[in-house]
Amino acid sequence: MAGNIRVLIVDDLPETRENVRKLLQFESDIEVIGQAGTGEEAVQMAKEHQPDIILMDINMPGIDGIGASQQISESVPSVQIIIMSVQSDPNYLRRAMMAGARDFLTKPFGGDELVAAIRRVHDKRPTVTSTPARQPRQTANSASSDEPMSLPEGNIIAVYSPKGGAGCTTVAINLAVALARRGRRTILVDGSLQFGDVSVMLNMKAVTSIADLSDRGNELDQDLISSISQVHRSNLNVLLAPPRPEMADVVTEENIKQLLAALKESFDFIIVDTTSYLSEKTLAILDVADRIVLLAQQNLSSLKNVSRFFDLAESLEYEMQKVWLVVNRAKNKQGKGISVHDVGKALKRPIYGTVPDDEITVSDASNRGVPLVMGEHQKKAISLAVIKIADQIAKELMEGKAPVNNAKAEPEQSKGLFGRLFSRSPNAGG
Ligand SMILES: Nc1ncnc2c1ncn2[C@@H]1O[C@H](COP(=O)(O)OP(=O)(O)OP(=O)(O)O)[C@@H](O)[C@H]1O
Ligand SMILES: [Mg+2]
Repeated sequence: MAGNIRVLIVDDLPETRENVRKLLQFESDIEVIGQAGTGEEAVQMAKEHQPDIILMDINMPGIDGIGASQQISESVPSVQIIIMSVQSDPNYLRRAMMAGARDFLTKPFGGDELVAAIRRVHDKRPTVTSTPARQPRQTANSASSDEPMSLPEGNIIAVYSPKGGAGCTTVAINLAVALARRGRRTILVDGSLQFGDVSVMLNMKAVTSIADLSDRGNELDQDLISSISQVHRSNLNVLLAPPRPEMADVVTEENIKQLLAALKESFDFIIVDTTSYLSEKTLAILDVADRIVLLAQQNLSSLKNVSRFFDLAESLEYEMQKVWLVVNRAKNKQGKGISVHDVGKALKRPIYGTVPDDEITVSDASNRGVPLVMGEHQKKAISLAVIKIADQIAKELMEGKAPVNNAKAEPEQSKGLFGRLFSRSPNAGG
């Protein structure tokens, strides 16, 4: 039947293959076109029949499922592979994803789970392109000419706080939506890879995620990025965190750097939500960022952590203007406690922006999955404050000002944070 999803089942145990076939037999859009009992047979049948999906066991005599997946991804790239394994170990998952698998089912699984995975992977299959070269952005009047004029690179803006719960996700989402609604080509990347909240806050499902890009380093072109990102109704592109925490492991520091570099070619703004824990992945994001929106709050614990982060930024040789200090949940202290002005004074930095505290509005917007700056709350003070920061950013970065040069991303980064701090020249930074 035309339009069916054609599936090949690979497992060394005939009864397992038969059970899987039975789970699929009543699905009118799924057709099992064959079964293979070894990795070698799977590679052969993939080349011959070009199925849409291969359900692949890992443990098989001869070439195992990972080896077979690798060969198939290279020789028949249109095939999408779903690994079936009793092992749910993140190392397995990582190896499977690196070998080109698109999803992972832990045995035993039910029919609903299997069918959902097949449809999801099939619906979201990336466009396979033969030209890995990136396409630079084109200006409106150069779009039809043979030699497109490339626009300046976009800006990566990481939203970070050394203290959890400071409002990074809230601010990142609303800044990104505000920029997208101003007609800026904007993508929001959920860099909180393990427990990212962007999907919940925007009411989107992580059918595709950053994990899908993990093994595609050299193919990172616009087609692949657009097949894996999703478009929110505000016109914002969104690249979600993996749907399961263990999948965060398949994304390496190198993947993140390559991804962000590729996004700079297609977007004016790449807004990255981050977690407060300074893992190597978070550091990779902060290193490649053109600007860091650093969130502080009016309390001593936040000030202490933000102050330490400024020290670290200096040690890492980030330029002063790379970090923009924003006070979130700002309250008018009326003479008591720490005022917004005090925050700037204590940290000896200018305050780039202030977002007022408004718990009722924020929680209503997040329960509805509608960003503050576009729903019924868009005229509230909190939304106007975020829009003001977004406009300031657009004005500052898009009006011909050269971005800060962050040429600190040397290969030494794999030394880890301590290694980098210790290997600095003695008179650099603080
Ligand atoms: N300006 C604000 N006014 C009131 N509440 C806010 C404001 N900004 C954030 N919040 C609330 O603070 C909490 C933490 O916000 P958010 O999840 O955005 O922070 P985060 O820094 O991303 O946290 P995490 O460290 O968990 O990733 C949420 O309940 C959110 O609704
Ligand atoms: Mg968050």
